[in-house]
This record gives sequence, C-alpha cells and structure tokens, in this order.
Amino acid sequence: MTPLHQVIKNKNTKIKPIWIMRQAGRYLPEFREIRKLNPDFIKLCLNEDLSSEITLQPLKRFDLDAAIIFSDILMLPYGLNQKVEFKKNFGPILGQININEISKISETDFVEKIFPVYKALDKVSNNQITSNKNTIGFVGAPWTLLVYMINQQSPKKDLKHDFFEDKNLIKKILSILEKFLMIHIKNQVKNGANVIQIFDSWAGLLQGKDLENYIYFPTLNLVNYVKSLNVPVICFPREIKNYKKFCEVVKPDAVSIDYNVDPKQILKDIQIPIQGGLDPKVLLSDKENLKKETIKYLDIFKDHPYIFNLGHGVLPETDPNMMDHLVKIVKDY
Ligand code: CP3
Repeated sequence: MTPLHQVIKNKNTKIKPIWIMRQAGRYLPEFREIRKLNPDFIKLCLNEDLSSEITLQPLKRFDLDAAIIFSDILMLPYGLNQKVEFKKNFGPILGQININEISKISETDFVEKIFPVYKALDKVSNNQITSNKNTIGFVGAPWTLLVYMINQQSPKKDLKHDFFEDKNLIKKILSILEKFLMIHIKNQVKNGANVIQIFDSWAGLLQGKDLENYIYFPTLNLVNYVKSLNVPVICFPREIKNYKKFCEVVKPDAVSIDYNVDPKQILKDIQIPIQGGLDPKVLLSDKENLKKETIKYLDIFKDHPYIFNLGHGVLPETDPNMMDHLVKIVKDY
C-alpha cells in the first residue's frame, strides 16, 4: 500500500509521508521555462504532454510521496463554458455567468472540453516515477467555485454586499456544480487518481447558518460520492473557524489544516488523519528555522496519522534548495 493510503486508510503513525500544495509551479526554474513559452495558462493545462511533464517535475527533484495533477480548480467553470483567464500578477478573471447557457451543457460537452486533464492523469499515474506513490486528483469545493463564478475574481477580504442577492441563481449554480463536480471526480478516478483533495479556499468567509447551506451540506454530498468510488478524500476548508465541527459533519477521510490552526489544539479536537499546517513563509527564512518549525509539527503529530504538507501553497519566491531541505528533514525524522 502507498504511504498516503497507509496513513489515511490504516491510520499508520510510524510513517510521515510528504507532498506539497503547488509543488509543481513557479518556484521551479524548469516550470518557468515551460511557462514562458506557454503564456496561456488554460491551454497549458489542456496540453497533456506538458501538464503531465510539469506534474512530474517536483518528483524528479525531491523524494515526495505523491504527484498532484497540474490543473486548476477553475477548469470546472471553464468546462461549463464560462470564460476563464489568468492575468499576470492579478489572478483569475472570469466572464459573466450565463445561467441559461450553462444549464444546457451536457456531460459529453464538458468532458470533451477538458479531456486532456484526464489524459494527463492517465500518463502520470502510469509513469514509473509514481509507482508506490499516489496520484492526487482534485476539485474546488462547491462554495469556492461559486465564489469565483459569481464574483468573477478572487474576493479581497470579504464578499461584495450583494453576493447573495439572487438566491435563485445561487441555487441553480450549486445544483449544476454538484452534477459536474461528480463527473469531474469520476473521470479523474477512472484515469488513475487514487486520492481526491477538495480545496475550499474561501471557507473562511462564511459563518453561522451559511456554513450549513454552502459548505457542510454541499461538501458532505461530494465527500460521500468520493467514498462511494472507494477513493480516500481529503478536505481543505481553509481558514474555516471550526475545523472540529466541519469534520464531525462532513466526515472526510483526512483534513488539511491552514497555518493559522494551532496544531496542539487540533490534535485534541480531531480524531481523523491530519495533513499540513506549516506556514509556507517558513520556507523563505533560513534552514535552521525551517528545521525547527518542521520538527515542531512532526513532534506534535508523532502519534497521530499525519501527512506532511504546508498550510497553503508553496510561494513562487521559494528557493528550491529550501524545498529539498524540507523534504529531507521529514524523510530523516
Ligand atoms: O498544487 C498543485 O501543484 C496542483 C495544481 C494546482 C493549481 N491550482 C495550479 C496553478 C492546484 C491544486 C490549484 C488549486 C487552486 N486554484 C486553488 C485552491 C488552492 C488555493 O491556492 O487556495 C485556487 C483558489 C485556484 C485558483 C487560482 N489559480 C488562482 C487564485 C490563481 C492565481 C494565483 C496564483 O497562485 O498564481 C491560479 C493560477 C495557478 N494555478 C497557478 C498554478 C501553478 C499559477 C499560474 C502561473 O504560472 O502563473
């Protein structure tokens, strides 16, 4: 069994596998080289030769336990024919949502439009380098995708005051998202993804009753669907106020924590396997501090099923040597 599966399925506490969110990305010179020649990010994600090559780049350098497919959560609205662009130094920009058009999209239309993502997964999972390692597929959580589809860009600190104005529209989008997220997950699993991570990057924007309607219930449906495919599911409800409650209601197989979570407290609160936590900014400091902070997490989760990762994606300005150092610290522990 792969190290990640041993931790998630067998609750193994003796091994501490490691993979890193955004492990394939701008901090790697070999990625930047490909990126320079491919200014259109979506097209790059839809080039199965390049996206599978990019996926494997970090595994060629570092002794990581999983590959995460090089794609994006916004490939889903893209597959639904909403315009999606990535502007340099700004982030994603989406076109206005046309609910009538989106409602007409069939499973075949959607799968055809983003088919290279599945081909890339097939390539990665069949590559020698990933034998006895996991290939992680992923989706955005319904809430985070809803935020992007309505807001048309990353929210700054808060949602616009009129975000919830058209409740009927929101209901329709959520129902479409539920259908196509399941289709997207199903096809990733069919093509070799053997762990699914659900990214809810904007979970921290909600409180109270909204949590139930937009996070707990939609995510629970998705988690149950992944479980029905016999694939472990990791949830990352970034900056949610109450991880304990989230885990009790949604019951993922493992939970990924952000860097504002107190690791000692979460250890008392949560019984399921835990992933992540370390602040990505620690990789911008020095080796001594990196070692101290990394060992801190490993010590706290010594007797708990734990997958090493960061509390958010690796920063583009990270020195690859620091990443190398981090992986070695975890492997030598
Ligand atoms: O983790 C991985 O290495 C797998 C690939 C991956 C990407 N995006 C590639 C990417 C994954 C898992 C994502 C998830 C994602 N995408 C999330 C959830 C996680 C999080 O970061 O909170 C979100 C919110 C998005 C949407 C998105 N994509 C944003 C806001 C941006 C711009 C900001 C940024 O980091 O550049 C992207 C672009 C993006 N997605 C890049 C990469 C490697 C950078 C593209 C570039 O080279 O310019």
